[in-house]
Amino acid sequence: MATTIDHPTRNSDNKPDYDSPLNREAFGENFKWGVATAAYQIEGAVNEDGRTDCVWDVFARKKGKIRNGDHARQACDFYHRYETDLEIAKELGFEQFRFSISWSRVMPDGHGLVNEAGIDFYNRVIDKCLALGMEPWITLYHWDLPQALEKSGGWKNRRIVEWFADYTAVCARAFGDRVKHWIVLNEPMAVAGLGYTTGEHAPGHTGIHNFLPVVHHLALSQAEGGRTLRRLLPDARIGNAVSCSYVYPHSQSAADVRAARRADALMNRLFIEPALGMGYPKDAFPFLSNIKRFMREGDRERLKFDFDFWGLQNYFSVVVQHSYLAPVMWLKEVPATLRNVPTTGLGWEVNPAGMYEILKQFSRYKGVRELLITENGAAFKDKLKEGQVADPGRQSYYQDYLAAVLKAKNEGINITGYFAWTLLDNFEWAHGYSARFGLVYVDFQTQGRTVKESGKWFAGFLKNAEL
Ligand code: NOJ
Repeated sequence: MATTIDHPTRNSDNKPDYDSPLNREAFGENFKWGVATAAYQIEGAVNEDGRTDCVWDVFARKKGKIRNGDHARQACDFYHRYETDLEIAKELGFEQFRFSISWSRVMPDGHGLVNEAGIDFYNRVIDKCLALGMEPWITLYHWDLPQALEKSGGWKNRRIVEWFADYTAVCARAFGDRVKHWIVLNEPMAVAGLGYTTGEHAPGHTGIHNFLPVVHHLALSQAEGGRTLRRLLPDARIGNAVSCSYVYPHSQSAADVRAARRADALMNRLFIEPALGMGYPKDAFPFLSNIKRFMREGDRERLKFDFDFWGLQNYFSVVVQHSYLAPVMWLKEVPATLRNVPTTGLGWEVNPAGMYEILKQFSRYKGVRELLITENGAAFKDKLKEGQVADPGRQSYYQDYLAAVLKAKNEGINITGYFAWTLLDNFEWAHGYSARFGLVYVDFQTQGRTVKESGKWFAGFLKNAEL
């Protein structure tokens, strides 16, 4: 096992000691600075130009699934406002722009037929990025599965591996002449866990029986997507983006330490290790051996792909403890709100040390060539007052997390870029519009945009202005 992590207990003084001043120069000239977005969260225009429903359109129409009954039919209207929004990203100083492709916009049936109007939209986005001097980074799958495929079982059906490879090939051929950076899947663990097991996300399936087949089909697809891109675009830089959270045991008891290792296997190891040829992390979580029921001959090889980079998406760390009341996992989270630690508006623990630790953890894998932070950011209850949005909590979150990234980098970890999540307040999945993550405030009544104080700080940082 490559990741023998020791599991210290979380205490308030295990903050990294930041000795370097925080400025852009300290990260080096070649460090990539970007901002990340996702199609479903910003585009709107869900019925325009031949786009068909994705699972989130259907999910949002059901009662009680999205906070306040919100939906993404208009979202940030990025579909019509992409030019000015990209100009804002550029003004803030970002040089990389990460966005995702809506699968049902470019392939209304999920496979086969291609919708040229959908392709044209992304061509316009890419061309605008390039005209502004921003590098476009494509994420192929950011959770908006075409409903047409859900009708055939979605991620439960192994045929999705072929459908996904077809879709990948269509995107590679359409955009590969101008797009050099590709991310295959975004946070596959959220799809398997929230989308197919707890039902908090679309398509809203529940039951542990879904978990293992969905994990396996996602893990096969991430590798197959990588291979398809490599075949069609030999010069592209190909990565995959995984959620990760450093896990602390609640105490040093053997049961809590084992619970932390199980949580770590699920939250941090489940998708990277099969790609690296290490198989699923059943050493820490024996339940995962049942996945062999869904494996066919040759799958261990098929799961492997040598990604050029791994995108890490880190927001918080977690503390877990053993629990007899939670069958299968036998653990429960000790929420940050009960531990008297700083939290964001979503109750997520603010712990920059967790960012530093998780970077160290992932850097220990021999097969990892390069790491980037492809998402990091914070939601707060922002208010627009007299044309200003004062959000000191977000600004200090960014400062502290960037300092943790810098410390890891200075210790020799090959981390080459950082993407803030996110440009605009947007449709935050089951939280609807109640959780604002943007550097730019969006008034959803008028579609007005206001750069928040944190956005101004970020712009100053990127322009190397005095802080
Ligand atoms: C992860 C997801 O990729 C993104 O879509 C989401 O909005 C952020 N984290 C914040 O929850």
